[in-house]
Amino acid sequence: MAVDDFATRALQQRAAAGLMRRLRPVDGQQDTWVTVEGRRALLLCSNNYLGLANHPALIAAAQRAAHDFGVGSGASRLISGSMRLHHQLEESLAALKYSEAALLFSSGYQANVGAIATLVGPGDAVFSDALNHASIIDGCRLSQARVCVYPHADVEALAQLLASTPARRRLVVTDSIFSMDGDTAPLGAICDVAERYEAMVMVDEAHATGVAGAHGGGLVEAEGLQERVTLQMGTLGKALGTFGAFVAARRPVIDLLVNTARTFIYTTALPPPVVAAALAALEIVRDEPQRRQQLAQNAAYLSSELRRLGLAVGEPSCHIMPVLLGDAATTMRVSQQLLEAGVFVQGIRPPTVPEGTARLRVTVMSTHTHQDLETAVAAFAGLLPTAAEAPAEHQ
Ligand SMILES: Cc1ncc(COP(=O)(O)O)c(C=O)c1O
Repeated sequence: MAVDDFATRALQQRAAAGLMRRLRPVDGQQDTWVTVEGRRALLLCSNNYLGLANHPALIAAAQRAAHDFGVGSGASRLISGSMRLHHQLEESLAALKYSEAALLFSSGYQANVGAIATLVGPGDAVFSDALNHASIIDGCRLSQARVCVYPHADVEALAQLLASTPARRRLVVTDSIFSMDGDTAPLGAICDVAERYEAMVMVDEAHATGVAGAHGGGLVEAEGLQERVTLQMGTLGKALGTFGAFVAARRPVIDLLVNTARTFIYTTALPPPVVAAALAALEIVRDEPQRRQQLAQNAAYLSSELRRLGLAVGEPSCHIMPVLLGDAATTMRVSQQLLEAGVFVQGIRPPTVPEGTARLRVTVMSTHTHQDLETAVAAFAGLLPTAAEAPAEHQ
């Protein structure tokens, strides 16, 4: 069939460029060790930063909710799917974010697309960091606002763009901890320029929620910017161990989202077991700050050990540590060799990251033991002569 020809040709082109993607079945729970395609390996590429995805309290909460409320929500929130549990979770999330109100979405992708398109539209302008997540990029495009991309974390350039771009409404949007680089946005300085030019600020805390801030509220909490950020977005599928996402903002913004965000309105509400597990996760985030401390310690130890091996690990040290290799084919080869050595680290290639910056995206969990981290260091050390075979311009 013609479609087969087209698909086969497109796949051949991807394969030739070292960009072929493939799904790898993982058996067992998302723990520190998993079985990948039948091979036992240390998991070093999960977003389950606090080890909550298989925590007994979350599993018990999900089981109870399945028993009491069933496994499905049955409809979108505006039809019959707005269960009491959803409202409880939204209240807890608003408290976590020191915000007036919060609204659940069925994924972070949908939260970003829905929120951006609600805050800005035709006649408005959105200012987006060059390394923002794909869901922010798509939200900007779908909003039909004018999109101005500023160089990564460059507040001067952002200020110039704001000064030279008149629009009815303006929105600055940024990741807080960048998903592929592990560095942080200069949020305070972004709020300063946004206020100078009367722009709204939206912060995607997907990788900071549960992890940064004294109470796990994210980088906005850590920097005391709750009153200055228009909308905080967070996910439930990463440090909180479950699935879904939310935004926190003042009540009128949340009510507007309920009325107009298409990715909220036209999709089935989160299932009760997921919502109950997220509530249990928030209790652990509140009661066990030592998980955040352990995560930071694990990140500091592993990143310094990898740097000691001479690897190009991004600064500063955080639970996301990219090891830059540059070339897509080299990156995938090293990822496969690490798996054969018993360590599972995914390679990340364009278009997820800019051309020439393919990398191993190493992530730690608070539940990794010191021995686990030593296993990781030994696996990297064992591969170094091979990794160094990459062409010089790609190192
Ligand atoms: C920064 C960022 N925003 C949004 C998302 C999307 O979240 P979700 O996986 O819940 O759709 C991700 C997930 O990978 C992310 O890294």
